[in-house]
Amino acid sequence: MVENDLSPASITSNLGTHFVGQRVIYYPSLTSTMEVAKQEAQLGAGEGTVVVADEQTAGRGRMKRVWLSPKGSIALSIILHPSVANLPSLVMLASLAVVHSIEAVTGLRAQVKWPNDVLVNGKKICGILIESSVRGKIVDYAIIGIGLNVNLRFADFSEIQSMATSLSAELGRDVSRLRLIRRLLVEVEGLYLALQAGGSIYEEWRDSLITLGRKIRVKSGETVYEGVAESVARDGSLLLRNFSGSLSKIVAGDATLRD
Ligand code: BTN
Repeated sequence: MVENDLSPASITSNLGTHFVGQRVIYYPSLTSTMEVAKQEAQLGAGEGTVVVADEQTAGRGRMKRVWLSPKGSIALSIILHPSVANLPSLVMLASLAVVHSIEAVTGLRAQVKWPNDVLVNGKKICGILIESSVRGKIVDYAIIGIGLNVNLRFADFSEIQSMATSLSAELGRDVSRLRLIRRLLVEVEGLYLALQAGGSIYEEWRDSLITLGRKIRVKSGETVYEGVAESVARDGSLLLRNFSGSLSKIVAGDATLRD
């Protein structure tokens, strides 16, 4: 029997972090942890405050998409106060923290699809959303939102079955969400402290990408690029060799692997 208690005490007790997850706000059900985290951040919530929900009724994805997060999944948001220089690295930090946690808790190999989807066996298992409020060189706050498919049966969600998977579907057994969340918070803090100390997480993020060397299609705003993903820059943008031979630097977008 896998335990299912996501109470703040069960998450924070002996967590071993200095600030990430030392304050946890838990809801059995809410619209979106991003919404509540934003309100908390605007009220001055401290660095590392976490909002976690058993289920979201209006989960938000990238590009204004809906994110399904029924009971059995992990939906959480972490409030941080990074420097403006470290803001672009949060995408890398979050995806690496998820990859590390999945591997540590389940032994499954996870990879990143540019910019920040986490895949297991080629299917999306986790989505990451970063929202921030920046004034000039001051970051008021940044929020990392993580949605991880843990104990989900995809027969119940036929609309995403072909592209998505869950840890339970891959393993054939349920996984402790509590263990995953606790590990995730430890990983986020470790990578964040490394960044603040001037370390780079770019190389490891680049090496964990499933995208490089692959034929891809990227939709960025109204523009569609098709070509081969050649490399990624230190700021996280993608360098794509168009089939015409020219090179495009794409800051944000939605990538589909073509081979
Ligand atoms: C994506 O489109 O891939 C990003 C999905 C991000 C979902 C997470 S779940 C926790 C947090 N709350 C939300 O409403 N969205 C993010």
